[in-house]
Amino acid sequence: MLAAVRSAAVSGIDAYDICVEVDVARGLPNWLLVGLPAGEVKESRERVSAALANSGFELPVRRTTISLSPGDTKKSGTGFDLPIAVGLLVAIGVLTPESVDGLTILGELGLDGSVRGVRGVLSVARHLANASSVRALVLPPANVNEASLVRSLPLVAPRTLVELVEMLSSGTFTHAQPGPRVSASDGSADFADVVGQETAKRALEIAAAGGHACLLIGPPGAGKTMLARRLPSILPALTEEEALEVTAIHSVAGLLADSGACVAARPFRAPHHTISSAGLVGGGGAPRPGEVSLAHHGVLFLDELLEFERRALESLRQPMEDGQVVIARAAQSVAFPAKFSLVAAMNPCPCCNFGHPTRVCTCGDGEIVKYRSRLSGALADRIDMHVTLAPVAGEELDGRSSGESSAAIRARVERSRAVQRRRFAQLTSVECNARAPARTLLIAGAVDADARKLLTSAMESLQLSARGYHRVLRVARTIADLEDEARVGEAHVSEAIRYRPR
Ligand SMILES: Nc1ncnc2c1ncn2[C@@H]1O[C@H](COP(=O)(O)OP(=O)(O)O)[C@@H](O)[C@H]1O
Ligand SMILES: [Mg+2]
Repeated sequence: MLAAVRSAAVSGIDAYDICVEVDVARGLPNWLLVGLPAGEVKESRERVSAALANSGFELPVRRTTISLSPGDTKKSGTGFDLPIAVGLLVAIGVLTPESVDGLTILGELGLDGSVRGVRGVLSVARHLANASSVRALVLPPANVNEASLVRSLPLVAPRTLVELVEMLSSGTFTHAQPGPRVSASDGSADFADVVGQETAKRALEIAAAGGHACLLIGPPGAGKTMLARRLPSILPALTEEEALEVTAIHSVAGLLADSGACVAARPFRAPHHTISSAGLVGGGGAPRPGEVSLAHHGVLFLDELLEFERRALESLRQPMEDGQVVIARAAQSVAFPAKFSLVAAMNPCPCCNFGHPTRVCTCGDGEIVKYRSRLSGALADRIDMHVTLAPVAGEELDGRSSGESSAAIRARVERSRAVQRRRFAQLTSVECNARAPARTLLIAGAVDADARKLLTSAMESLQLSARGYHRVLRVARTIADLEDEARVGEAHVSEAIRYRPR
């Protein structure tokens, strides 16, 4: 007999419907799975057979054909186990075809028949919420929390195959309820711990407020890592829609904790400098999101920037510009969102002492130029703010009263973000100044005449590209927003220019 069960697959972070068709017919005993299954999908045969047997269902020795359609997209992941098992039970008459009407079924099977968590469930739930004729999503209990972020969708979360079969045969479903939400931020690192370094703190406040890229340059021990690690404590809160997108990416990457908790705070990703360019921007046979996508709506922190492979660094340019990564594969290309703010730290020269107040730099000019050229001009130009910092002297470190708290800085950041959200309310893909189209910054009356004049003369003296011109203007816009000024003035532009590389 022929059976059809609805399931879903994820491409990038977008889900689409899959129809799992199962045909059990007379003929030589065989198991054929078609529809471009990846290795782990083919292995469903072993899991499903054992799970059915251990749940007390006997499969007839027949010719079994399973088709995952549409047949021309590559299928990966272990989520097809459960729909295949249910399809088999319909095909051999244990369940009726009507019992699975309007259900989308997803889940991995343990050999004992237990239903285990899978990746990408939030994407599926968001997809189904927009579809009509959906009765419920049948999913693993481990994925209930993330799926319940989509409020309108009824969820059914059987713990075992047997439990699902009982529900399907009786037609009565117990709807799953999400567990308690856990909050991600620990709040231990605070800007109050940082003595001095006012310029760097100011730059990070501007970066957090407007979503700008920022590079900290200074000798070891200057506090670069310490400052950057405190950035999460002043980042603005995620909007609900942003939190959904970020959680969907982390779900696809399989990074949600077992609790399936929603990602509640802006991501702060700090990959090690040995990371490959595939790890950074994403890749793999069944493409997975890279660090730039895991940092979507948050910060990608690259400590010791010049230790990263040149190729990896250059691969950042395209996502920084487009806000997404497109991974092209022969079968299909997959897009992952990647709107991140790059924050990086590096030493000023090979001996690290350049600009140090007491130590002597032993590097020749040529060596310094060669060292810095590891950061290409094209990438440097895309980093809005370059900040040079010197270490704070020992006597200042002890006894000095600590700086402003993260909470106070964050309040200003939040206020300026609110201003930006109002400004870009009509532009769906823009949420902060760093991504503002140039025309929205240059509308009549938005920039003072003095400020324009200063910008034009800086363009010549600093040899700014057109891109550089707009980047200065965006940073100036954020500085004005922090002061709640409607117009960008000369002082705002002049501060923004100070952050440009010379
Ligand atoms: N301005 C500062 N205020 C307080 N502590 C500091 C400051 N600068 C450096 N330190 C101390 O020095 C340590 C090393 O700083 P770190 O951030 O690792 O420097 P870098 O990354 O520039 O090499 C910090 O963990 C902190 O204990
Ligand atoms: Mg460091």
